[in-house]
Amino acid sequence: MAQGVEGDAARPPHFNGLPSNTNFPNNPKANSFNRRQKIAQQRKSLPIASVEKRLVHEVRNNDTLIIVGETGSGKTTQIPQFLYNAGFCRDGKIIGVTQPRRVAAVTVAKRVAEESGVELGQRVGYSIRFDDTTSGSTRIKYMTDGLLLREALLDPYLSRYSVLIVDEAHERTVHTDVLLGLLKDVQNKRSTFSNGCPNTENKQLSNGMLLDKGGGVFSSNLKQSQSRRFSTLKLIIMSASLDARAFSDYFGGARAVHVQGRQFPVDILYTLHPQPDYLDATLITIFQIHLEESPGDVLVFLTGQEEIESIERLIQERLRQLPEGNRNMWIVSIFSSLPSEKQMRVFAPTPPGFRKVILATNIAETSVTIPGIKYVVDPGFVKARSYDPAKGMESLIVIPTSKAQALQRSGRAGREGPGKCFRLYPESEFEKLEDSTKPEIKRCNLSNVVLQLMALGVNDVIGFDFIEKPPRAAIVKSLEQLFLLGALTEDCKLSDPLGHQMARLPLDPIYSKALIQASQFNCLEEVLITVAMLSVESIFYAPREKLEEARTAMKCFSSADGDHITLINVFRAADEFLEKRKSGQSKEKDDKVLKKWCKENFINSRSLRHARDIHRQIQGHVEQMGLHIASCGDDMVQFRRCLAASFFLNAALKQPEGSYRALASGQVVQIHPSSVLFRTKPECIIFNELVQTNHKYIRKITRIDYMWLTELAPQYYSMQR
Ligand code: CDP
Ligand code: MG
Repeated sequence: MAQGVEGDAARPPHFNGLPSNTNFPNNPKANSFNRRQKIAQQRKSLPIASVEKRLVHEVRNNDTLIIVGETGSGKTTQIPQFLYNAGFCRDGKIIGVTQPRRVAAVTVAKRVAEESGVELGQRVGYSIRFDDTTSGSTRIKYMTDGLLLREALLDPYLSRYSVLIVDEAHERTVHTDVLLGLLKDVQNKRSTFSNGCPNTENKQLSNGMLLDKGGGVFSSNLKQSQSRRFSTLKLIIMSASLDARAFSDYFGGARAVHVQGRQFPVDILYTLHPQPDYLDATLITIFQIHLEESPGDVLVFLTGQEEIESIERLIQERLRQLPEGNRNMWIVSIFSSLPSEKQMRVFAPTPPGFRKVILATNIAETSVTIPGIKYVVDPGFVKARSYDPAKGMESLIVIPTSKAQALQRSGRAGREGPGKCFRLYPESEFEKLEDSTKPEIKRCNLSNVVLQLMALGVNDVIGFDFIEKPPRAAIVKSLEQLFLLGALTEDCKLSDPLGHQMARLPLDPIYSKALIQASQFNCLEEVLITVAMLSVESIFYAPREKLEEARTAMKCFSSADGDHITLINVFRAADEFLEKRKSGQSKEKDDKVLKKWCKENFINSRSLRHARDIHRQIQGHVEQMGLHIASCGDDMVQFRRCLAASFFLNAALKQPEGSYRALASGQVVQIHPSSVLFRTKPECIIFNELVQTNHKYIRKITRIDYMWLTELAPQYYSMQR
């Protein structure tokens, strides 16, 4: 049975245990005709379809509009099409829709292109970091909120857009929050121009954003052309949460409209006792549903790629133990780093007689609506960023969901009929959950955001008009870190050229610094690979039943110096393998050959492919910046010195009992068992990730010499000690 084919969702993708002689309609023409009809029907039946005229009218009459509507009512896919059809793209202007998640931008753009009967990248396209499918003819553009922020660096008036829709605003990601502040100002500025009375004295935006970067006072001719170019910006804030007040207040009492949804009753079931191992409980529940409940698809909420992949393997194992007749389960997964051509598989119709089980991160809470779901399994956890400004440490932690998230999750079971939600915790625990999730801006490292705002001309970041202010201490800490990285001058201005170069790279400042610095250490080639490999989750995988084999395979790549060089070894081995096979003629062929190689070497092929894509893109950026890509060859000391010079804020020293003390924060941390340095435990190390479970674990570690820190980061280490 062939793998699922992109854009041909009518053909069933790869199924577990599906008999190979199963017949599916294979007349492509008839299929695509049926599919178009089905889509037209689906669109007509969406709750939003009946209010198209009213919504268009509201957008015409209000420059800022808040639209609240239940998940699945059709906001994301339909509203941009309504506006396109109503003429909001005349004069070649674009309707931009921002999403907090890459997966949502990609899957929705594909869906809308299909609904509109156009090829992706033509009238409808998406643009996310490291993947842009838009073209000159794109009029409806889905993108991540972070991407639009970067666009503002090049086009401060966002002049190509007639309408900007900030979708999923209730998620309150840090980029959404910053974007709201930015758009509020851009909108003010553009309406001033379009009213024909630009305040030439006021080159500074109210947030302190310098728009007139050219520095000249607008001449009267320019005023006219500006006024034509900068027509009013229509701003739409879309949210799935019913509380629109915060957004409305922030936009000066902007009008809010509600789109009525449709929700069937959902039975909520709790466990009697707390579950000591929620993954085990998840597995049992999936099989309980599969064997005991009536037909209907299952949506399972997990916290990340690793968890999803390990549950998937466990399900496969158990399925093999079931009688043939009970193996009719089709497992699909969706998470942010899933290659985009695989993401559409979750939407493919479940073949007759099968039960689809979707393993998802909280992406499926509100961003992505999958039809056909009748059962939800909610272990009650989510992976979130957490930041301690006093220590300057950001970590990823698995925490209980909020009540609002739990409700959204259970709601997914009642879209098309009555459903059931299995919460894998006792009812008494539900009452203890926070009402809603804390906005990300209050719990993350702000260095990236501060750098971007400063690059946009906002010098007073503390005074920026945020919808909700981040902790002052977090901003101060970010300014301090940026200063230590050399991105800011002593009087808190963006340094030239380093600060500006760092802001241009679509990476965390600490990685941008490493890349820029690598030229001086003659190891940009190695750092490029490192940054790409660090940008993906779990390169290695070790299935339980083949643990020993996986360990042996990993040894072939591992370096006694640490994980970074180990990752480089994997990347290069893959490259060499492809080179030897003389594939490289087509991407498909490369992918196929690489997949096989990955399987033999216990490498996660999805992650490696993603890393190779990212590598290609960052390489483009650094070449554009004129950096010289050289290799340090066998002299890995150079490379490790470069890591020490770049990641000095994440250095740690061994303690007598074998744990480590992070030098910047004073926190006691442990080396994660997945690190190649887990057993050797060198004296001094740098690390890239801090993960908190029952321990504070550090991952992605390289051995360094303590003296390098004082030599290469004297601005920090002579101050500290
Ligand atoms: O944004 P909102 O949650 O209001 O809904 P939407 O994302 O616009 O989804 C509207 C409908 O389109 C839902 O029934 C989805 O299941 C469907 N859809 C789909 O079938 N395939 C996609 N790739 C995206 C949406
Ligand atoms: Mg939506």
